[in-house]
Amino acid sequence: MKDGSVETVRVELGERSYDILIGQGLIERAGAEIASRFPGLRAAVVTDATVAGLHLARFMRSLSEAGIQATEIVLPAGETTKSYTHLQEVVEKVIHARLERGDAVIAFGGGVIGDLSGFVAGIVRRGMQFIQVPTTLLAQVDSSVGGKTGINSPQGKNLVGVFHQPGFVLADTEVLDTLLPREFAAGYAEVAKYGLIDRPDFFEWLERKRAEIFEGGQARAEAIAESCRAKAAVVAEDEREEGRRALLNLGHTFGHALEKAVRYDPERLVHGEGVSIGMAMAHRFSVRLGLCRGQDAERASAHLRAAGLPTRVDQIPGEALSVPDLMAAIRQDKKVSRERLTFILTHGIGQAFVAKDVDPVALESFLIEELSA
Ligand code: NAD
Ligand code: GLY
Repeated sequence: MKDGSVETVRVELGERSYDILIGQGLIERAGAEIASRFPGLRAAVVTDATVAGLHLARFMRSLSEAGIQATEIVLPAGETTKSYTHLQEVVEKVIHARLERGDAVIAFGGGVIGDLSGFVAGIVRRGMQFIQVPTTLLAQVDSSVGGKTGINSPQGKNLVGVFHQPGFVLADTEVLDTLLPREFAAGYAEVAKYGLIDRPDFFEWLERKRAEIFEGGQARAEAIAESCRAKAAVVAEDEREEGRRALLNLGHTFGHALEKAVRYDPERLVHGEGVSIGMAMAHRFSVRLGLCRGQDAERASAHLRAAGLPTRVDQIPGEALSVPDLMAAIRQDKKVSRERLTFILTHGIGQAFVAKDVDPVALESFLIEELSA
């Protein structure tokens, strides 16, 4: 990707294939890019209060200049917005605006807004057009691509939802400049994830380029584009997670359990931090099971730490977490099949694999060790 240029990554899904556009300052031309792909479109733009305060006016102007009529739906920021209450609110506002099936729900925000809006688009009128305009690093490299949508239920993360692919994704790398450093680091966990899953070359590149990526500019845009290429390839091969796509959940079984245990309190833990601790734990658990060398687990953790991310449960502020709570959350994971535990484990950097039927006794004693460390 050359300086100032726009990269297009294609997600190949037959008739439902779509483009991800990645580049600096794309918000200004978002309306034109959307209108050229969806002539005559009307839309509901769903966003959160923080993003609305920083970027919504420019985005809405760009839509209106391209002749796209759009209503705004502004929700509170944060993980607890992925709830039945806000799902109902957005569904009713979209119906009230008389948007039709060919009209779009546009997600303008991070993964919370993307997951909730995509679910709305998937169920209103049995499926409306859906467009993702991700504004966090996490959403640009992961959640806006691949069509997983949904909300949390009281029992756990992302337990209610549908697969509903967007028709277009537009990622303006410049909007990331307003992200809190903590949120940028959280998104970086998902970038590192692609290296740790099956791209040791990408992981080495990240080890060299991490500081530049955090500064912005070309290295950042390249890291985003490479992450999208990695995700697009997996989604094209296994859209509905019947096999290989499960690898994208590296660190997520532990991470989701930690998020639930802190009741999605962002003061204590945000999603990407949970994934970071979860990936470090998946490596350590793999070492404990004799599958991975200790030095590889330490190398993975060292990179995450250098990015300012937590890698251990005791770095989560507030009251101590309990093993029974984590075990209960893990048993509700979507990958559990016939009550057998499935984890993404690893043989080393870039050598993740799906482990079915993980021994709950070994898991419990690993958690006891982790929580007493
Ligand atoms: P988020 O949407 O809560 O955004 C994080 C914070 O950043 C919020 O407070 C938000 O208001 C703020 N923000 C967003 N854009 C900003 C900007 N440009 N400048 C300043 N602040 C900004 O969280 P997230 O980390 O983007 O996403 C996490 C969610 O994504 C979780 O719910 C997770 O389960 C989900 N997820 C989904 C998938 C998927 O495939 N669907 C993949 C990974 C994660
Ligand atoms: N973030 C996991 C997936 O999209 O499959």
